[in-house]
Amino acid sequence: MSGPSTYVPANGFTRWLDSRLPILRLMNDTMTSFPTPRNLNFWYTFGGILTFCLAVQIVTGIVLAMHYVPNDKMAFDSVENIMRDVNYGWLLRYVHANGASMFFLAVYIHMFRGLYYGSYKAPREVLWILGVVIYLLMMATGFLGYVLPWGQMSFWGATVITNFFSAIPVVGESVTHWLWGGFAVGDPTLNRFFSLHYLLPFVIAGVVGLHIWALHVPGNNNPLGIDVKGPQDTVPFHPFYTAKDAFYLVLFAILFAGLVFYSPNFVGEVDNYTPANPLVTPEHIVPEWYYLPFYAMLRSVPDKLLGVLTMFGAIAILFFAPWLDTSKVRSARFRPLLKPAFWLLVADCLILGYVGKNKPDAMLLSTGIPLLWIGRIGTLYYYGYFLVLLPILGLIETPKPLPESIAKAVGDKSHAAE
Ligand code: HEM
Repeated sequence: MSGPSTYVPANGFTRWLDSRLPILRLMNDTMTSFPTPRNLNFWYTFGGILTFCLAVQIVTGIVLAMHYVPNDKMAFDSVENIMRDVNYGWLLRYVHANGASMFFLAVYIHMFRGLYYGSYKAPREVLWILGVVIYLLMMATGFLGYVLPWGQMSFWGATVITNFFSAIPVVGESVTHWLWGGFAVGDPTLNRFFSLHYLLPFVIAGVVGLHIWALHVPGNNNPLGIDVKGPQDTVPFHPFYTAKDAFYLVLFAILFAGLVFYSPNFVGEVDNYTPANPLVTPEHIVPEWYYLPFYAMLRSVPDKLLGVLTMFGAIAILFFAPWLDTSKVRSARFRPLLKPAFWLLVADCLILGYVGKNKPDAMLLSTGIPLLWIGRIGTLYYYGYFLVLLPILGLIETPKPLPESIAKAVGDKSHAAE
């Protein structure tokens, strides 16, 4: 699909450069002439949006780090100083903090899009696996960053999460002390978390490079999930998708700005405006919203080690999705059984998020149904989707007839956006 290069150097300089460092050729072939299926919809604009999010986090993070002090006595005050005294420090911090949420919102849409259109299936397995690696790195980076303001939720969140490692048999306690750099979460922990929080976004950027490389070998999947059969099925990436991506990027940026300027603490936790105090545990320790479904899974299992395994397993299972799905058809549009199962998975993750947000002994509204049990059923469905439904539905389902080609389907109302 990436095919032979279409680049023709326009002048003497570009000819000279091309025979020494063909970077303009690479840019042309990947971002200008790249043949892209002509039927990509709105959900395909999130890859570009994610690249924007990563850039925003790196730029704002680097400037914040110029003023932030990674020391347990000074971290909290240094963040307050950024908010009050550094020129536009409030803006930098709010963009960075809300940027993390926007980044996760975009990545969840991007991942569910991949699950719906079967983009993880052959020949895009490596592309998908690299995506899961990025997601894991994002989770780690978000957690490390949340500890840095050294508020109550930072401190206690770090204590809860690092304590997971103490569930490892025999060496658990030593591993946890090694992570802390002491016998409790403290100054050495804060220092190493800062160092790693600075490092990981660059590692993510590297893996994104591989992700996009792996995308350009087979080319994009598309909402129909069928292969590109010839030039009539594609359009050049520029100007068609540069324009479309830019349009939705602006809409995304407006939503982002709305959050930053009108409700900058909407996703924040009030307890994190109280300095960390190892002697006072907050009444209710909750992670950021993007970890909540996993937190619900952790708490749905009464045993600590099994709970931790259930939680990490929920991410690990994503690596195997390409081989768990037995269907020959990619897109859920043509899979009458997978489609409702997929939407139930989306609802399940939202419900698990709700369960994770509430106290472990809470009831569902005023029904008297323990949320703990809803969390357990939700966890079972999550695992069931990957381990039971993906393998079995592919074998028993009769897919709807696939269109002959992308070109034929474009303009045909029965395949209108879905
Ligand atoms: C920093 C995070 C990420 C960036 C910058 C990124 C970037 C991109 C870009 C630019 C594309 C092509 C445009 C599009 O399809 O939207 C893409 C496609 C894709 N990404 Fe990502 N991605 C990220 C994270 C992830 C994650 C976490 C996953 C899955 C776990 C993932 C899975 C995929 C798949 C399967 C495709 C191919 C989709 C298709 O062709 O149907 N990506 N990504």
